[in-house]
Amino acid sequence: MKEFKRHLVTAALPYANGPVHIGHLAGNFLPADIYVRYLRAKKEDVKFICGTDEHGVPITIRAMKEGVSPQEIVDRFYKIIDDSLRQMGISFDIFSRTSKQIHHETSQAFFTTLYEKGLFEERESEQFFDEEKQLFLADRYITGTCPKCGNPGAYGDQCEKCGSSLSPEELIEPKSALSNSVPVKKVTKHWYLPLQNYEPWLKQGLLEGHPEWKNNVYGQCKSWIDSGLHARAMTRDSNRGVKVPIEGAEGKVLYVWFDAPIGYISATKELTAQWSDYWCQEDTKLVHFLGKDNIVFHCIIFPAMLKAHGGFVLPDNVPANEFLNIEGEKVSTSRNWAVWVDEYVKDFPDMQDAMRYTLCANMPENKDNDFTWKDFQERNNSELVSILGNFVNRAFVLMHKLCGGKVPPFHMEHKDEKDDALFEKIVATKKSIEGSIENYRFREGLFSVIDLAREGNKYLQDKEPWKKGDDQISIDNCLHMCLQLCANLAIYMNPFLPFTATKLCRMMKVMDRMLEWENGASLKLLQKGYPLNPPALLFRKVEDEEIAVQKEKLSAGSKQLTVDSKQLAVDNGQLAGGEEQSSQISALKSQINFEDFDKIDLRVATIIAAEKVAKADKLLKLTLDMGFETRTVVSGIALHYAPEEIIGKQVSVVANLAPRKMKGIESNGMILMAENAEGKLIFISPAAGAMNGSSVK
Ligand code: 2FM
Ligand code: ZN
Repeated sequence: MKEFKRHLVTAALPYANGPVHIGHLAGNFLPADIYVRYLRAKKEDVKFICGTDEHGVPITIRAMKEGVSPQEIVDRFYKIIDDSLRQMGISFDIFSRTSKQIHHETSQAFFTTLYEKGLFEERESEQFFDEEKQLFLADRYITGTCPKCGNPGAYGDQCEKCGSSLSPEELIEPKSALSNSVPVKKVTKHWYLPLQNYEPWLKQGLLEGHPEWKNNVYGQCKSWIDSGLHARAMTRDSNRGVKVPIEGAEGKVLYVWFDAPIGYISATKELTAQWSDYWCQEDTKLVHFLGKDNIVFHCIIFPAMLKAHGGFVLPDNVPANEFLNIEGEKVSTSRNWAVWVDEYVKDFPDMQDAMRYTLCANMPENKDNDFTWKDFQERNNSELVSILGNFVNRAFVLMHKLCGGKVPPFHMEHKDEKDDALFEKIVATKKSIEGSIENYRFREGLFSVIDLAREGNKYLQDKEPWKKGDDQISIDNCLHMCLQLCANLAIYMNPFLPFTATKLCRMMKVMDRMLEWENGASLKLLQKGYPLNPPALLFRKVEDEEIAVQKEKLSAGSKQLTVDSKQLAVDNGQLAGGEEQSSQISALKSQINFEDFDKIDLRVATIIAAEKVAKADKLLKLTLDMGFETRTVVSGIALHYAPEEIIGKQVSVVANLAPRKMKGIESNGMILMAENAEGKLIFISPAAGAMNGSSVK
């Protein structure tokens, strides 16, 4: 096991073109913060780095739409994001910005090193260009008439009317969505990093050296590598961003995914003169926290950049999370289907830990997970209030009533097996939380804390000090144990629920220093005879009306965001040419041969009837006219379509899939669907005129 002297922890830099939502918290900031708070409590040398990602077309476009300057956009959202994350207790050592000069200089120097080493390939290609706006256009920003169905509002990547996927070249009379002008084709030159040259190293040097990486991360990287890496443009045509620092590159900037991760380095430089100890010494443990859409950038592209440059540490782990859905649906910033952190802290002041608790309990560590307001209320009321808060409150109230407001002594000679068992649990919990956090299993760590509080309630209930009359020895021993347990709980909860841990310290009249991890698993945290404060409320109940207000707010859409920041970012990723994979597109599965493909019988069919499936929110029972027969298919599209709106729709079906029972209904086949930018499922429909039953080849 490698010994590390210091830790460098990063959380993915949020784009400064919108506020952050609780999905960002659960996937990225919260796990990073729990990890860092734990390391600090262990007195490890750690730096926690983050900041806003302020370059790229999404910001420019949002600015154009609002009629303000891009600077105004990034200044506004930098402040909103910074404030809201701090209020949630995310304890960065620095929250910087990629618009800072130090960042521009650092990323330019990085690019220059690679350039001087001759590691880039220069390539020319033709791209659509808006002469009025002086911008190269991402596919989504070109509109025109669909060549398949004649829809005049088709996009350069897709026609939403007939579902065809298109390329901008196929559109009839293409126009720029930004200015309505006719775009022209323009040759442009860019600098590409040939990722394929780093493939053997990425595979053997990086990936195979880390079998402990989470399955979702390891699997995604392996599949990217196995499907073959290719050269990727590291520059873009734009007047905003980090200027490409070489001659002949006027009007070009670094690709946002080239400069953003270098933002971790420049922010560390800004933070400390010792930045190179953290970035360049082998005994630094570098851990990147992020959501699954960022895996490839942190596990393949950034490591390849660092390797190409030389002299930097490489990530020891990238514990990426999956996504957090809201009330069963994917987060969509354009539909305003999100819980915004800045609004949460306003609506629930002083309830940061209730949200931290709920998000950690539902952290999407291995699969997408769901946040619901009902669950938030239940976890708060029946776990935080009824288990943790209740235990601490009972211990304090009883101590004030039965022990004169002071920590009672512990009479060793009267110790019994229940006291021993409780102490063993306190010791074991410390170990298990260590194992959980060090292996990035934060939910498990949190559950150990709440389990220990549960144990405290049980102990108190078994001992019933309120029934002991003048048996002061039993009363003293019980409440002494309970108060020591409160102190241990404060230490254990601190990484997860730092606000509550501090409140508890105030109640115990101890300094926050008590929260250092090495103090845990001890029965000597509070001295006998020490007077404690009266109990303060650690948590309050959340009422049904508050939940109703939040649910209403969610469906009504309180913030009218016109720009889907994430989608724009994806589009931005496509600017340099069709070779780019957007950050939301999953990696290719491994290759199959023609015989494998040929086994699948795809047919055209028409939906002739559709109805909801009882007790299954997501399922619709569809009746299909297959041309040669009528059959039933159960499809998971009920959250996306009402039954009446899809009747008459022509679809593509996997016709030879073995029958499967879903909610008691036999399903005979599967409808092909794709996802649009907002996460809505859309039909892969044949163009008009296809015959039911005909093969899709
Ligand atoms: O996906 C995103 O929100 C990006 N802004 C993350 C950047 S992380 C890093 F590389 F800077
Ligand atoms: Zn069409």
